[in-house]
Amino acid sequence: MTDNSTASVRPETRESAAGSEPLISVRGVDKYFGDFQALKNISLDVHPGEVVALIGASGSGKSTLCRCINRLETITNGEITIDGKPLPEEGKELALLRSEVGMVFQSFNLFPHLRAIDNVTLGPTKVRGVSKAEAEKDAMALLARVGLQGKEKNLPGELSGGQQQRVAIARALAMKPKALLFDEPTSALDPEVINEVLDVMTELAKDGMTMLVVTHEMGFARHVCDRVIYMDKGEIVEESEPEAFFTNPRSDRAKAFLSKILPH
Ligand SMILES: Nc1ncnc2c1ncn2[C@@H]1O[C@H](COP(=O)(O)OP(=O)(O)OP(=O)(O)O)[C@@H](O)[C@H]1O
Ligand SMILES: [Mg+2]
Repeated sequence: MTDNSTASVRPETRESAAGSEPLISVRGVDKYFGDFQALKNISLDVHPGEVVALIGASGSGKSTLCRCINRLETITNGEITIDGKPLPEEGKELALLRSEVGMVFQSFNLFPHLRAIDNVTLGPTKVRGVSKAEAEKDAMALLARVGLQGKEKNLPGELSGGQQQRVAIARALAMKPKALLFDEPTSALDPEVINEVLDVMTELAKDGMTMLVVTHEMGFARHVCDRVIYMDKGEIVEESEPEAFFTNPRSDRAKAFLSKILPH
């Protein structure tokens, strides 16, 4: 990391989030896969407008936690609420929940046979009952917002990785989510296109989107996020303001993790 400035892009968010009810609340969550415990007594809150980085070694449970929040996995113990409401078990309510908390994956997960615009309009027309004309108007605006004007009719295979990931972000935004979960959105990308995706995410953060971001991009975690949550072996080991975490990690595990990933 070359940028050592301490300025957050959104210094005002931390104070305004402090008094509000959490948008995402995770309380005492355990997750077992058979005998293996992937999440151990996880509790965290994400307040409206907050941007929280979730970092930790491979296998520490970051993806599992995101998948539990979006109900792609069931939890074994504990409770997760979105905007005060417990996660629905199944059916239409679950589809609506998924539209309230959008998720962006490492591998984009676009439908390969659908044009960029059709990937973006699919959710609003199928799940939210928006008319095709209105969904297309929204999709055009969203694709422009992520810098993809002129690429609306391209198939995913006709787009670069960075462009595909920006379609995936537009698709998540099209559902008008209350919060977005990102699971290593730039890990599958070539280095030269990583920044175009991080720039879009930074703009969303500035616009006040509530975001939980699993990332290895330490510059983004440090300068864009309001808080860093460090996980190891299924546990939250440390939760701090980014500057404190990166300059003065409290736990030995976080110190060891940072010494491996930050250049000397
Ligand atoms: N469906 C599953 N069945 C069994 N074990 C699983 C399953 N999904 C995840 N695990 C295990 O749970 C642990 C946490 O996995 P997870 O994918 O959440 O880690 P991660 O922190 O996202 O790692 P990475 O940085 O490599 O993406 C790992 O040990 C993994 O092997
Ligand atoms: Mg993962």
